[in-house]
Amino acid sequence: MPELDHSDFFILPSEGEVIQRLPTFLFSEEQHPRRSQAETARERLGQRWFFDPRFSQNGKISCATCHQPDKSFSDGIPIGQGLGQGARRTPSLMNVRFAHWFFWDGRADSLEAQALGPIEHPLEHGSNRIQVVRLMREFYRSAYEASFGPWPSSLMGELPPDAMPQRSALSLSPKIATYALASFQSATQLHEILREAERRRVSVWQQVPAHTVAAAPAVPEAWVQAWEALPQKTQHAANEVFANFGRGIAAYERTLVAIHSPFDEFAEKVGQGKSVAESLTATFGTQEYEGLRLFLGAQCHNCHNGPLFSDQQFHNIGLPLRGGEKSMDIGRAAGIILAQSEAHFSCKGPYLKQESESCKELPYLDSENLEMMGAFKTPSLRNVAHRAPYGHDGRFATLQDMLAHYNELPTEAGIGHREETLQPLRFSVIQLIQLEAFLRAL
Ligand code: HEC
Ligand code: HEC
Repeated sequence: MPELDHSDFFILPSEGEVIQRLPTFLFSEEQHPRRSQAETARERLGQRWFFDPRFSQNGKISCATCHQPDKSFSDGIPIGQGLGQGARRTPSLMNVRFAHWFFWDGRADSLEAQALGPIEHPLEHGSNRIQVVRLMREFYRSAYEASFGPWPSSLMGELPPDAMPQRSALSLSPKIATYALASFQSATQLHEILREAERRRVSVWQQVPAHTVAAAPAVPEAWVQAWEALPQKTQHAANEVFANFGRGIAAYERTLVAIHSPFDEFAEKVGQGKSVAESLTATFGTQEYEGLRLFLGAQCHNCHNGPLFSDQQFHNIGLPLRGGEKSMDIGRAAGIILAQSEAHFSCKGPYLKQESESCKELPYLDSENLEMMGAFKTPSLRNVAHRAPYGHDGRFATLQDMLAHYNELPTEAGIGHREETLQPLRFSVIQLIQLEAFLRAL
C-alpha cells in the first residue's frame, strides 16, 4: 500500500499505537444496556406515542414517519418531510441515549425537551400543546396515570381544540448577524433583507434571523389567543402533561441501542490480549484494519471519538454553499442562542430539570462565538453505512461522496471558517475504499 507522504499531519499509526487507541472507542460496562426493547410501562407508553399519528395536525404524521425503524430510525431522504419540508436531514435515533445535545445545532439539552419540538413545529407534526393534552386525556389517560400520577384536575373541563404559547423569536447578536449578512452571497437575497428591514422599520441585523433556518416558524394567532385565554393553572398543568409526553418518548428512545458491530468484536478480542492478526474476523479483515489505521492517521478521531465516534461538539467542516438555498443555515451559532433561550423546556426551566452534562455547559456557551458559524454536531459514525444520505443537509448521497469531500476540501467554507485541523486527505482510490470499509464495520 502506498504510504501517506503529504505532510506530518498524516502519520499511519503502528500496530501498538492502534491497540492503545482501541479501548477509547468501546462502550464501558455501565454504558452497555444490551437492550433494544421497551420494557417498563413508561417506555412502552412512549413507544405508543412515538408511533401514534394522531399527534399531528392532519392525523397522518408520527415520529416514525421520519424516524423509520427499518432505516435505523431515519428516513433515507436528504431533507426530512412532514407536513412540509424542513431544511435538514433526519438523523438516526440509534444510540441517541448517549448524545449530549440534540438536533444538528444542539438547541435542545435533553432528549425529553427535544421530543416536544417536532410536535409543535408547523412543518413536522404541526400540532399544539392543547391538542396533545386532549388526545392524552381521551386515549391514554389510564396509562398516563400509571406512569406519571393523577391526571391534573384543571385539565378535566372543556378545553379549546388548539392552543399553544407564542414561541420566543431567534435574536442574534449584532456581531453574529453582521457576520451572517456578509455570508449571504446572492444579491437578490441581500436586497430582499434590506427591503424587508426597511418595511418593518427594524435594523438590518434584526431582520437577518428571519432569513436563517433556525428562525421560529409562526404560531397561528388564534392558537396563541386561545392559550392566553386559559387560566394560569390550566396552562401550567398543560405544560406538565406536555413535559411528561417528552419524558415518555425519551424513555422509549433510550431503548434504541445498537452497539455490537464487527469493529467491537475485533476490538474486544484485541482487548483480551490477542494480536491484530489473531483478532481479524470475516467481517473485520485486513481491509477494515487498514481503514482504521487511515482513520487514525488522518486524525478523524479529533472529532469522531469515543464510543459513539462523536465528540458531541460542533464543528465547521467547510461545506460549500449550494445554489438556490433560500435561507442560510448558521448551525450552532443560532443553536447556542436557542438553547439558552428555550425558557420552558430547557433544563433551566421549571418543567424539565435535567441533571445532564450539557446543562452544566449551558451558562458557559458563548453566543457570540464566530467559530460556531456553520458548525454542526459531529454525527456518530456507528451504523453509518445503514443510513445514507449524509451531512446535515443530506447533500452527500453515498459514503463515497462524503469521503470525497474530506479528500479534497474546498478552500472556502460557504458559511464561517472550516476548522483548521482539517486538511485535504488526498487519499488514493484504494485508501478511500479501505477507509469506507472501516466505516462500514461500525
Ligand atoms: C418531518 C420529519 C420528522 C418528524 C415527524 C420527526 N422528526 Fe425528529 N428529526 C427530524 C429532523 C429533520 C431532525 C434534525 C432537525 C434539526 O437538526 O434541526 C430531527 C431530529 C431529531 C432528534 C435529534 C437527534 C440528534 O442526534 O440530535 C431526535 C431525538 C428526534 N428527532 C426525535 C423525534 C421524535 C421523538 C419525534 C416525534 C415526536 C420526531 N423526531 C419527529 C425529522 C423529523
Ligand atoms: C473537525 C471535526 C471533524 C473531523 C476532523 C472529521 N469530521 Fe467527519 N464530521 C464532522 C461534522 C461536524 C460532520 C457533520 C457536518 C455537517 O453536515 O455539516 C461530519 C460528518 C461526517 C460523516 C457523515 C455522517 C452523517 O451521518 O452525516 C462521515 C461519514 C464523516 N464525517 C467521516 C469522517 C472521516 C472519515 C474523517 C477523517 C477523514 C472525519 N469525518 C473527520 C466533524 C469532523
